Amino acid sequence: MKPIKDQQPGPEEDIQEVYGPPSYFGMPDEEPEEVQMVYGPPNMFGSAPVLRGTLRDTPSTPEFEKLMRCYRSLRARTDFQPRIALVLGSGLGDFAEHSVDVVETVPYNELEDFPVSTVEGHKGRFIFGYIKGVPAVVMQGRVHYYEGYAMKDVVLPTRIMSMLGAEVLFLTNASGGINAGFSAGDFMVITDQVSCFVPNPLIGRNVDELGTRFPDMSSIYDPELRQQILDAASELDIKVQQGVYLQLTGPSFETPAEIRMLRGFGADAVGMSTCVEAIAARHAGMRVCGISCVSNLACGMTDQPLTHEEVQESANKAAPKFRALVTEAIAKIGSTL
Ligand code: HPA
Repeated sequence: MKPIKDQQPGPEEDIQEVYGPPSYFGMPDEEPEEVQMVYGPPNMFGSAPVLRGTLRDTPSTPEFEKLMRCYRSLRARTDFQPRIALVLGSGLGDFAEHSVDVVETVPYNELEDFPVSTVEGHKGRFIFGYIKGVPAVVMQGRVHYYEGYAMKDVVLPTRIMSMLGAEVLFLTNASGGINAGFSAGDFMVITDQVSCFVPNPLIGRNVDELGTRFPDMSSIYDPELRQQILDAASELDIKVQQGVYLQLTGPSFETPAEIRMLRGFGADAVGMSTCVEAIAARHAGMRVCGISCVSNLACGMTDQPLTHEEVQESANKAAPKFRALVTEAIAKIGSTL
């Protein structure tokens, strides 16, 4: 290993300040101790984070330090060990009241470095508890890029849930239906995504502790999890569509010309979330699945203008079925974890 003065720091960091005593760099053969120095004693705030990436003997990124601060402040509140992470989209805001045996709730604004959502109707807290017996962490309210956060902050909660130990990320959202065969109120099991209209959340120095620089995205939505959702839907006699979800930045809705373009690009539904969370989760080694509630037909497919209120109202109408589907799907997924 090079002496510390010869190491090239990344653009944003100061190695000495962030990584503690220089002697850390003088003991390249003692990797377990190095890991402990970076992360602190495993039991200081409950269990140590689950990290599936490579632990290196070179300095970490400010991004990882930030994640660790946030992780520690959450672990100071609960030592709950989730197996599955669920992100609630529009319409599923009251999922926890109906379907979670709640053990602990932690508002986002009580966590260090955690981005806090500003969207009306988004409560903004983690709920820890059991969904049909499956230990879960539920995000009641997510952060959106259009609120002005850096994409790294948009996916910070996803990464934290992975660090807590969740192996599966279950994403939900509301979307505009682009596929001519869809109707408002349909549910779409997400089979794949188009994310190239928004910045990739992995841009910047790679967080090696989480995952590799160039992660594979060939089965971004896990086929087995998808099948489990389809099985749950069939048991509940709920009709579901399947298709490709495309993320735009928002916050304006699309124009009719944009919708025609997106259809040509292979999208079945469009929304303002989800894809970047899926990318960050796959990067961190989580398995991902998702269901979109098609709250409206996309712009230009009806002669009605779109409003946020209409989207929410329509998503709320679909909520009881959506809740039942998500609950049953999680029960199935949990039974095979
Ligand atoms: N476009 C984008 N995002 C959305 C829509 C839409 O039509 N409906 C719900 N979220």
